[in-house]
Amino acid sequence: MQHTLVKNVLASEKIHQEYTLKGWVRSFRSNRFIALNDGSTIHNVQCVVDFEQMDKDILDQVTVGAAIEVKGTLKESQGSGQRVEIEVDEITILGTADPEDVKLTILSPKRHSLEKLREQAHLRVRTNTFGAVMRLRSMLSYAVHDYFTKNGFYNVHTPIITGSDAEGAGETFKVTTIDAANPAKNEDGSINYKEDFFGKETNLTVSGQLEAETFALGLGKVYTFGPTFRAENSNTSRHLAEFWMIEPEVAFCDLAGNMDLAEDFIKSVISYVLEHGKDDLEFLAKRQEQEDKQKPADQREPMSLLDKLNFVVENNFKRVSYTEAIEILKNSKPNKKKKFNYLIEEWGADLQSEHERFLVEKHFKCPVILFDYPAEIKSFYMRLNDDGKTVRAMDILFPGIGEIVGGSQREERHDVLLEKMKALNIPKEELWWYLETRKFGTCIHSGFGLGFERLVLFVTGMTNIRDVIPYPRTPLNAEF
Ligand code: 4AD
Ligand code: MG
Repeated sequence: MQHTLVKNVLASEKIHQEYTLKGWVRSFRSNRFIALNDGSTIHNVQCVVDFEQMDKDILDQVTVGAAIEVKGTLKESQGSGQRVEIEVDEITILGTADPEDVKLTILSPKRHSLEKLREQAHLRVRTNTFGAVMRLRSMLSYAVHDYFTKNGFYNVHTPIITGSDAEGAGETFKVTTIDAANPAKNEDGSINYKEDFFGKETNLTVSGQLEAETFALGLGKVYTFGPTFRAENSNTSRHLAEFWMIEPEVAFCDLAGNMDLAEDFIKSVISYVLEHGKDDLEFLAKRQEQEDKQKPADQREPMSLLDKLNFVVENNFKRVSYTEAIEILKNSKPNKKKKFNYLIEEWGADLQSEHERFLVEKHFKCPVILFDYPAEIKSFYMRLNDDGKTVRAMDILFPGIGEIVGGSQREERHDVLLEKMKALNIPKEELWWYLETRKFGTCIHSGFGLGFERLVLFVTGMTNIRDVIPYPRTPLNAEF
């Protein structure tokens, strides 16, 4: 049976046209006004019922959460709040929802906390807030593919199961196997998992970078966009154990070109949602305004959501070397109120998130690209500068988020790379294939990784990373 999406009905100019709609009841007021939502838009369509003409048994089943089909005629609305509405001719109940049970869930029409929504992750997509976030997430994902395709990049699907730990941080999930036909059992009867993948130690990927590099050295410009896994035990509002990362990699591109690409890419995908995701963004902006009113003045957002997004699109990111940033931090005043000291005594120290946020939110008041970090605190594959102590790394720091991008120019010189691996005890047997690319037509190349959920956080104005991914995987939440 053909039906029309609510968003198309709401945009329709065809007054008196008959439409069939399918969706879920958000509210049913005065036995007359059904607010119907089908997920295609943040807006409900108002369906007006003449209850004297309707079968009472059916009307009794039009309850919050129920799935229904409505046939009716498009009319100009007499009430305020909507341009058009549907005058109902016929209702079919597709799936009932018992009001007593609904009362116990987040479907009940009142404001529920985001914590409560997380506990019912299977239902939260039917709420306005999470629905808006998920539509924007989908739109951003499309914008990512659109940007790279239009700019001559090829999409590479790098492996999820891999033998390498690209970041060398050791925070990986190991892959274990069971022989299904003949599962080895422990003495107590429990299954004895093999700590390997058919004889080889493997893990879930932490980054597709190393494989993407090999593809860039053949296809020129490539990108990955896939799930990555980190077994770090961080319970913060910015970390997930499973997150999606976008990793472009470009041959014949140096660090400056990498910064240009990252800035242009981020501005482009944000522009895309500003243009195509207006309704959801406006809803979330209003939501943020309401939340802000409950907060003390010094914790409120300095800009409205839409102003913030436009600001990022319209202004240059500030590019600052690590060494300059350390000077700024050294000369900044300690923050007495938060009992945090911004002072950094030593060049070479890794920046903590408080330092990053100080630079972005207090000092520069715009997105910042920090580059040329000390080699000691960065990964083995980064291109060593001529000073012998810094590498061509870059991190992009965003207001309210902190690090959103990590990237670098890669070490393209075989012998320098090998020395670096030796110094860090990375066995060359493990990465022989990676090293080999430096023997056959090696060239300058660069890339970066952008944490997709951190981008979604920024664009939606949400504050907890668990609220921008369908089913968050964190150390305390793996049940769904
Ligand atoms: O800085 P990271 O670890 O860099 C890499 O993995 C490189 N191999 C990327 C590259 O050059 N191709 O991670 C990149 C980004 C971070 O800036 C952050 O946005 C995000 O990934 N990220 C996380 N997001 C959510 N949860 C986590 N646990 C994350 N760890 C990193
Ligand atoms: Mg990083």
